[in-house]
Amino acid sequence: MSTNTISINQSLHRFDGHREVWLFGYGSLIWKADFDFIERRPARIHGWTRRFWQGSHDHRGTPEAPGRVVTLIADAAAHCAGMAYLITPEVFDHLDHREKNGYLREIVNIEFSQGGSTQGLVYIAGPGNEAFLGAASDAEIARQIAQSKGPSGLNRDYFAHLADALRALGESDSHIDRIEQELLALSGA
Ligand code: BEZ
Repeated sequence: MSTNTISINQSLHRFDGHREVWLFGYGSLIWKADFDFIERRPARIHGWTRRFWQGSHDHRGTPEAPGRVVTLIADAAAHCAGMAYLITPEVFDHLDHREKNGYLREIVNIEFSQGGSTQGLVYIAGPGNEAFLGAASDAEIARQIAQSKGPSGLNRDYFAHLADALRALGESDSHIDRIEQELLALSGA
């Protein structure tokens, strides 16, 4: 049901020896930067698409009633827009704890919206992790989001923060747009 990834991540890519590392955020990292960063820039990565396919037992749901949060799914034709943060490697100690439920750090090429690119890291919860829920219809995903809550609050607030943050970046994501329509329908709006 949940995999504690803290120790795995500690042995993974940290860019040790580098004083600064770029980290790409595509979910809560876009709107919840509760860590020190040197600089942040709107950015995108290619070959990945954002999906509400990861179960959340520790933040937006419970072990008995998991919520849904985003992860990235490999798709050669896709890209994912988000926010890149320039951080020091020590920040990973905080993030590895915050995102301990199945997310592992992977190396990606980050393309900055204003030009240029760099190698950096991204947290991905792959299909093999125990909290992975996988695909469901937009309506089912919306229903689960509408019903779930956990220690970090309502799952629908997580969704709304992400949808608003993408709008603020001037980015659209059809997966998010479709679920938002379903959530609106559920709320009777
Ligand atoms: C992110 O916003 O990049 C992110 C989302 C979930 C877990 C870790 C990172």
